[in-house]
Amino acid sequence: MASYISYLIVLLLLIMSPTGHNAHRLPPHRPCTFNAIYQLGDSISDTGNLVRESPLGAYLPFNRLPYGESMLLRNPTGRCSNGLLMIDFLAKALGLPLLNPYLNKEASFRHGVNFAVAGSTALNASFLAENKIYSPVTNSSLPVQLDWFSNHLKSICFSKFECELILKKALFMVGEVGGNDYNYAFFQRKSMDELKTLVPYVVQSIKNASERVIDLGARHLVVPGNFPIGCLPIYLTAFKTNDSSAYDDNKCLKGLNEFALFHNNQLQSMLAQLRREHPNVVILYADYYNALQWVLSHASSLGFEEESVMKACCGTGGDYNFDVTKMCATEGVGACPNPDLRVSWDGIHLTQKAYQYMTEWLVRHLRLQSRCRFI
Ligand SMILES: *[C@@H]1O[C@H](CO)[C@@H](O)[C@H](O)[C@H]1NC(C)=O
Ligand SMILES: *[C@@H]1O[C@H](CO)[C@@H](O)[C@H](O)[C@H]1NC(C)=O
Ligand SMILES: *[C@@H]1O[C@H](CO)[C@@H](O)[C@H](O)[C@H]1NC(C)=O
Ligand SMILES: *[C@@H]1O[C@H](CO)[C@@H](O)[C@H](O)[C@H]1NC(C)=O
Repeated sequence: MASYISYLIVLLLLIMSPTGHNAHRLPPHRPCTFNAIYQLGDSISDTGNLVRESPLGAYLPFNRLPYGESMLLRNPTGRCSNGLLMIDFLAKALGLPLLNPYLNKEASFRHGVNFAVAGSTALNASFLAENKIYSPVTNSSLPVQLDWFSNHLKSICFSKFECELILKKALFMVGEVGGNDYNYAFFQRKSMDELKTLVPYVVQSIKNASERVIDLGARHLVVPGNFPIGCLPIYLTAFKTNDSSAYDDNKCLKGLNEFALFHNNQLQSMLAQLRREHPNVVILYADYYNALQWVLSHASSLGFEEESVMKACCGTGGDYNFDVTKMCATEGVGACPNPDLRVSWDGIHLTQKAYQYMTEWLVRHLRLQSRCRFI
């Protein structure tokens, strides 16, 4: 009964939808088939670029257990989690092999390439530096990753027409990216007002990136928003306060979540504009914010430990098992016995289990927006 009523409500909303594109909003019958995925982004989707790029690669924590402890063969791959990421679950759901990192020169790129680099930003390092924001991990920002993509294209197609034919059947993940521009600004003590002036530039950089892949022939884009950063142990620890009114019902920091929504709203307005400018391109918004909020508010029914839902699995100290000076995989800092019971892996990134549930939520919601049945 309840589901019948919610079905009716959904149907009503569809009929009343003011966009005039109702036909595109009804769950379609034709499945989307993609031959390849191209991923741009940061540590949320890096499957091994940073650990290959950095001269310190082998020493980076992401290249050491317990990172990767839940992978086949307990294998650290450079992924910032105990196991798989959302892009891995998405590739599986689309029937494609896991995406290899661009900097693994021996790997197969038959079904796409992962250009994401942990620590990377949407804005280039020089622009950030002009604004006194220092990018400490990598300079392979979004524009650099686009140069990599454009170089890669030269090895798989030899005319604009041929490239377009190939890319027509590919899915482009443009992000999540931009989260680090804000992370660095917040932790380098910029004010909320300064942060807000950065947002239009970050969104413009994501727009530029989307236009560049569209010009090269992309016809299916998924552009994710930012996480509810006020729920992450790194922020909960750094901005901890005795003022209970600073927290929302999920015990997350309201002001930081509002900032994430401020970015996400501008991002979605930009995407609406982009859709008007490119009516023949499918451009979907992946709502990471609400996907994670859904996981947090259903934590116990999804099998997470209710009492430690905000605690990092791998880390030590404080109320959130997080200490920025003693992070996961550094000297003597190990993981909780069962990462599947936690949402946060290392205080910044999520566990494989949380990413799996977020992907399931996203796939259900992307399906409703797409012209073809998304999965
Ligand atoms: C960096 O980004 C800014 C703003 O998008 C742009 O004006 C500038 O040319 C870029 N610099 C480099 C070195 O790419
Ligand atoms: C980024 O580029 C700047 C300027 O070229 C350089 O000084 C810095 O070491 C680079 N950072 C990284 C992490 O590669
Ligand atoms: C976006 O592209 C325009 C036109 O190429 C350029 O002037 C601008 O600096 C770019 N902005 C960002 C933030 O990358
Ligand atoms: C919170 O309150 C406790 C005890 O009243 C105090 O010791 C602590 O310094 C306060 N913390 C902050 C962040 O204000």
